[in-house]
Amino acid sequence: MNNLNNLIFGIIFFQIIININCQQYVPVGKFFHTATLVETKIYFLGGKNNDSISTNDFFFLDISKSFNKTEALPFKNVTLDLIMPKHYGAGTTVFGKSKNSIFFFGGDMGVLQDKNSSVYTLDTTKLPSGWQEIIQDTVDRRRLLSVTADNNNKIFLFGGGGGGNFGDTKYIRYNTMNIFNISTQDWYVGTIENTLIKREGHTGTFLSDTGEIIYIGGRSDNGLLIDMTNLDVYDTINDKWVQWSTRNPPEQRCLHTAVLTNDNRIILFGGVNGLTPVKNYYVVLNVKTLEWYHGNGSLSTRAPYRGHTATLYNDYMFIAFGQGTDQQFSDDVLIYIIGDYANFTEVNYYNVINKIVPKSPNNIIIGSIISSIIAIGFIGFIIFKYNILKLKMGKRPPAFIINIP
Ligand SMILES: *[C@@H]1O[C@H](CO)[C@@H](O)[C@H](O)[C@H]1NC(C)=O
Ligand SMILES: *[C@@H]1O[C@H](CO)[C@@H](O)[C@H](O)[C@H]1NC(C)=O
Ligand SMILES: *[C@@H]1O[C@H](CO)[C@@H](O)[C@H](O)[C@H]1NC(C)=O
Ligand SMILES: *[C@@H]1O[C@H](CO)[C@@H](O)[C@H](O)[C@H]1NC(C)=O
Ligand SMILES: *[C@@H]1O[C@H](CO)[C@@H](O)[C@H](O)[C@H]1NC(C)=O
Ligand SMILES: *[C@@H]1O[C@H](CO)[C@@H](O)[C@H](O)[C@H]1NC(C)=O
Ligand SMILES: *[C@@H]1O[C@H](CO)[C@@H](O)[C@H](O)[C@H]1NC(C)=O
Repeated sequence: MNNLNNLIFGIIFFQIIININCQQYVPVGKFFHTATLVETKIYFLGGKNNDSISTNDFFFLDISKSFNKTEALPFKNVTLDLIMPKHYGAGTTVFGKSKNSIFFFGGDMGVLQDKNSSVYTLDTTKLPSGWQEIIQDTVDRRRLLSVTADNNNKIFLFGGGGGGNFGDTKYIRYNTMNIFNISTQDWYVGTIENTLIKREGHTGTFLSDTGEIIYIGGRSDNGLLIDMTNLDVYDTINDKWVQWSTRNPPEQRCLHTAVLTNDNRIILFGGVNGLTPVKNYYVVLNVKTLEWYHGNGSLSTRAPYRGHTATLYNDYMFIAFGQGTDQQFSDDVLIYIIGDYANFTEVNYYNVINKIVPKSPNNIIIGSIISSIIAIGFIGFIIFKYNILKLKMGKRPPAFIINIP
């Protein structure tokens, strides 16, 4: 009887704990945060809020179960012992044998020149232990860069913008390739061709079958947009750069996101062309044929064009937060079912039932690739007029005034 009482007490107590830990969380609107997929959780971190103040909010969207957007999204706050400084414009990826750990780099923490507090890792199986700083003095803090992991736990930091070395006051863009060996915690640099243009606000997508990273878009000094016809590709195995020539390229852009589908297409979402949102938010590169497809579906006026994140899980693409023409600081997650070519459908639900979620090694690898290419949002300092604008496909909406740093 005593044992039974203890058991009942234990169960009730446990449930109270679960309830406390699993309370619904309602995130505030944000942009230039990061999103990292670990198994069936999309972890969101940092970004600027609606008052343009950097945050260190850390929470996840639970995609282990189906949900319907007519109800509140299944967000959960994450409580940590060691928290992250407030920031925006950082980059993250997953690493580790079972891809359970998050690697974090850079961002603007208010000190653009400072190398301190720029590298962190978090083991999601050891919560609430929190973020472990990796002390280093070789890699400059940058924002708007790409952070991309390979299959062997090397992490490639390419490009980005920042304050340069200690003492520099001028904002500069980089074409540096910093490589981090997770197992040895050593840093080294990759080859850089002279012709490689410095850039920020680009995306890097790792192709696991060939060990190549495809860099797409971004901007260089004086607002110069990077060519999207001839793409810079880094061969991680031979430490070599090559260019891939593509057909039918879309409008050039920066501050877009990129995800890789399991049939080797890269879906770009959003982006700005100079100062204004691109005309076509949804464009797709077929990596096998190097042909671009241009989406012609209609996008909701709530769709963000920059400062959002994109995470692909099975056929669902989650476009989270960011700046749109209707909503400057979206607190929403738009859900797209991706189709073939550049076909897509926006839905207000996520359905896990018809989806294959085998825990095969293959699937884990795909998951890691997907999360490693979640693009990073970024920013300039923004002066904006809050107008309610209507965005129509093929028609460029009036821009907010963006001051490129
Ligand atoms: C941002 O959100 C907070 C809390 O909802 C609100 O008090 C504040 O006025 C908002 N600021 C702007 C600029 O909208
Ligand atoms: C979501 O909920 C709405 C309203 O309850 C309902 O009409 C719709 O069918 C639901 N969608 C799914 C996929 O369950
Ligand atoms: C979320 O967790 C953080 C860190 O433990 C805590 O400071 C914050 O108050 C929590 N937010 C909410 C809304 O529960
Ligand atoms: C950054 O590190 C340097 C060298 O370790 C130290 O002198 C400096 O105070 C640190 N800065 C901050 C902001 O912690
Ligand atoms: C990374 O570290 C591992 C373990 O020491 C080592 O085997 C590997 O060669 C290193 N990779 C590179 C590229 O240095
Ligand atoms: C646009 O979409 C429609 C229907 O999905 C399709 O029939 C048409 O070929 C598409 N046009 C282009 C230019 O892709
Ligand atoms: C997808 O788009 C292509 C052309 O862009 C069209 O030919 C094809 O029928 C579309 N597929 C679906 C399922 O709508």
